[in-house]
Amino acid sequence: MCGIVGYVGYRDALDVVVDALRRMEYRGYDSAGVAILDGNGSIAVERKAGRLANLEAELAETGHFAGAAGTGHTRWATHGAPTDRNAHPHRDPSGKFAVVHNGIIENFAPLRRELEDAGIELLSDTDTEVAVHLVARAYAEGPTAGDFTGSVLSVLQRLEGAFTLVFTHADHPGTIVAARQSTPLVVGVGDGEMFVASDVTAFIEYTREAVELGQNQAVVITADGYTVTDFFGNTAGVVSRPFTIDWDLAAAEKGGHDYFMLKEIEEQPTAIADTLIGHFVVDEQGGRIVLDEQRLTDQELREFDKVFVVACGSSYHAGLLAKYAIEHWTRVPVEVELASEFRYRDPVLDRSTLVVAISQSGETADTLEAVRHAKEQKARVLAICNTNGAQIPREADAVIYTRTGPEIGVASTKAFLAQIAANYLVGLALAQARGTKYPDEVAREFAELESMPALISRVLESAPKVRAIARELAHVPTVLFLGRHVGYPVALEGALKLKELAYLHAEGFAAGELKHGPIALIEDGLPVIVVMPSPKGRAVLHSKLLSNIREIQARGARTIVIAEEGDDTVRPFADDLIEIPAVPTLYQPLLSTVPLQIFAAEIAQTLGYDVDKPRNLAKSVTVE
Ligand code: F6R
Repeated sequence: MCGIVGYVGYRDALDVVVDALRRMEYRGYDSAGVAILDGNGSIAVERKAGRLANLEAELAETGHFAGAAGTGHTRWATHGAPTDRNAHPHRDPSGKFAVVHNGIIENFAPLRRELEDAGIELLSDTDTEVAVHLVARAYAEGPTAGDFTGSVLSVLQRLEGAFTLVFTHADHPGTIVAARQSTPLVVGVGDGEMFVASDVTAFIEYTREAVELGQNQAVVITADGYTVTDFFGNTAGVVSRPFTIDWDLAAAEKGGHDYFMLKEIEEQPTAIADTLIGHFVVDEQGGRIVLDEQRLTDQELREFDKVFVVACGSSYHAGLLAKYAIEHWTRVPVEVELASEFRYRDPVLDRSTLVVAISQSGETADTLEAVRHAKEQKARVLAICNTNGAQIPREADAVIYTRTGPEIGVASTKAFLAQIAANYLVGLALAQARGTKYPDEVAREFAELESMPALISRVLESAPKVRAIARELAHVPTVLFLGRHVGYPVALEGALKLKELAYLHAEGFAAGELKHGPIALIEDGLPVIVVMPSPKGRAVLHSKLLSNIREIQARGARTIVIAEEGDDTVRPFADDLIEIPAVPTLYQPLLSTVPLQIFAAEIAQTLGYDVDKPRNLAKSVTVE
């Protein structure tokens, strides 16, 4: 997740900006840069791939950039590899404008074409660069000529997607113009100095007075004040929220939570929304799914006769869900395999096999080796990954990025949910290429995905209830999880979360398997968490699972049931009921997983464990 800062005031801007970037390092980044206005009509820019230390070393060599205004950026690559050339700030050809950006400009392709047709040479692979060129053109001629703020506003009106943008101009050293649409931007209000930043950690050392901007708002800051407008320059009806920061720095990084994982659970609606951005492009036929780095042609997508999904841990559980969606939508057979097992059993792979490799880190050794094995066998590989520039996407033939920003908690939460969404994009891309779904059906499924962020937010509202149940159960020795169909991988994921965070014995079962052995585990008071399917979509499954619950309740289990809102048939069998919104079957895991994450985190916290760093575990497992 990129980190952005802008400063105008009386201090040394370079010091302020670099300090701010250091404090935002926790957001994760792969390159960093600064632009400092000298006050005499020039902007000095330095940017470097890699750690902030690389940028600082470069700055030490070039000499200190003096000035009382500037911007800084840490980049988490989305469009274009993490290189010096793609690092921010980006400038226009005159070198007068500089921009830093967080997010994705969805319509960058036609804008880039428009600029290239006008003879402008773009120097990076980023979507960001188009913004600075467009603003420079609006400033050079036309109705906003010579008007810095007006030029920025005129371009904001043309941009689609999710973005925070911060512009500076060498001839206006006392002014910074920034804007947000969907991604974060806060203003820091100082005495004789003003800040804009991705989050308050950037300026918490200098001021505790802040203003949160609303959606689609722009802000102009000078050392003495700020003005918030909409993208058309109107102030009337534009509401921003002033607040006083009462967190210390450590709490501020975690959004006020005790742990990053808790923040990451809350970030899931945004993680899904960001992952979907740009993947559905409207065209004459109504629209189509596009991948990020589409190095597989439609012809190739049509010719695959088999799909393998390989992954580890939570990513494997997300992979299990891919099978339901891809087989249902495309009728192509899908096998899901633990990456650590895959290459040792000589799987049947050839040119007509698509291997989908899912990895948050993109560096997991087992998954990487599975990818290499698949490629040796001439299979084509599509990676689903959260880390741009990591090894797995580099070696894959095509990529979909889960754009969740860095996941700092060791236990996967937001990346897991985003992987499910990405799997469904793969399924839809295959269905579209193979003609197993009509364009309007693909569009409908994509709209379902787009409705998920709001529904996940609703599930998050049930957190207090889930936490109360968790606290009651914190001292039990075992918890079982049951699910059927897409509820089964959810049960596995719920059990994994509890094992790794709370060090409890937990098992996930396909509910139908219970009678074949595990039911012997049931005893008085044993908590069993049941993920109920919808009573509508899969009525048979629903009634089968009701029978399973009856069986375990009769043997004394305490049942904690996650069920669709309005599912009254389940009430008599639920000692505790957690309701989630009704959605089509395939989408339920995006909702039913959330209470299980909260449950595991709360038990771990009650037992006094560090949920961000469970014992014996690493975030990225680079050994086989
Ligand atoms: C569990 C968890 C792990 C990872 C697994 C794969 O919460 O985070 O099971 O899912 O180690 O990691 P990636 O996705 O980075 O390949």
